[in-house]
Amino acid sequence: MYKYEQYVESANFIKDKIGNLKPKIAIILGSGLGVLSDEFEEKVTINYSQIPNFPISTVEGHAGELIVGKLNDTEIIAMNGRFHYYEGYELNETTFPIRVFKILGIEKLILTNAAGGINTNFKAGEFMVINDYLSFLGESVLRGKNLDEFGDRFIDMSETFDKELSKKLADTIVKHTGKAQEGVYAYMKGPTFETPAEIRALRVLGADAVGLSTVPEAVVAHHCNIKTVAVSCITNMAAGVLDEKLSYDDVKQTADKVKMNFKEIIKEYVKMI
Ligand code: HPA
Repeated sequence: MYKYEQYVESANFIKDKIGNLKPKIAIILGSGLGVLSDEFEEKVTINYSQIPNFPISTVEGHAGELIVGKLNDTEIIAMNGRFHYYEGYELNETTFPIRVFKILGIEKLILTNAAGGINTNFKAGEFMVINDYLSFLGESVLRGKNLDEFGDRFIDMSETFDKELSKKLADTIVKHTGKAQEGVYAYMKGPTFETPAEIRALRVLGADAVGLSTVPEAVVAHHCNIKTVAVSCITNMAAGVLDEKLSYDDVKQTADKVKMNFKEIIKEYVKMI
């Protein structure tokens, strides 16, 4: 368990590095979507390993740096590389940066990820705005002593993802790609992709897409009253939907194909919200 003072220490370190920049928006860049950071101006890059108390990212395709700067004239802080439960981190480590962002004054959080499509109306390469989630981890990221500085012990979860922010994101996606999907994201532990039987079960339970991230971060952001919006890039159809095996290479390939669209969507979106 972290103490409140540790979050403050990390935030102070970042504040010192970013000078006059005072971002109100944070974004977490999912697998293959790190390209956005090329677009930042006046940017300050801080490697996670420099920041006191920060966990260090290990997964391939995740750079492990914080980038602060201006995107389309909007001050923003980006995480290029996130912390996943399957890497071996404790849940409160995977979400450590969110509370640091809160102390830094972040008011809105954009979560992005790569996900497998469960809904058979979806196609690889489409974007899905997440309107709710299913969590099968069995353990809440908020388990343990509540840090009252951030939020209450018991919190309502009927609107984890802010409706207004989500609508604006869907509209921006439609403008750039002609179509935006919307649906429920099922959070799985990984690192195995799911079995076809798990996917069939998840579909019955109401999931539209499946992935290995985002939910812990969204819950912690919701707890400390950061407005959150989340989008999945459907990089593949989930196990058993098509007659083909899943591979991380395919996930990366699809993310690579949509990254220019993604960049334009987010550039426009951050200016709008
Ligand atoms: N399952 C879990 N995580 C994923 C998938 C998937 O099919 N695709 C991209 N991330």
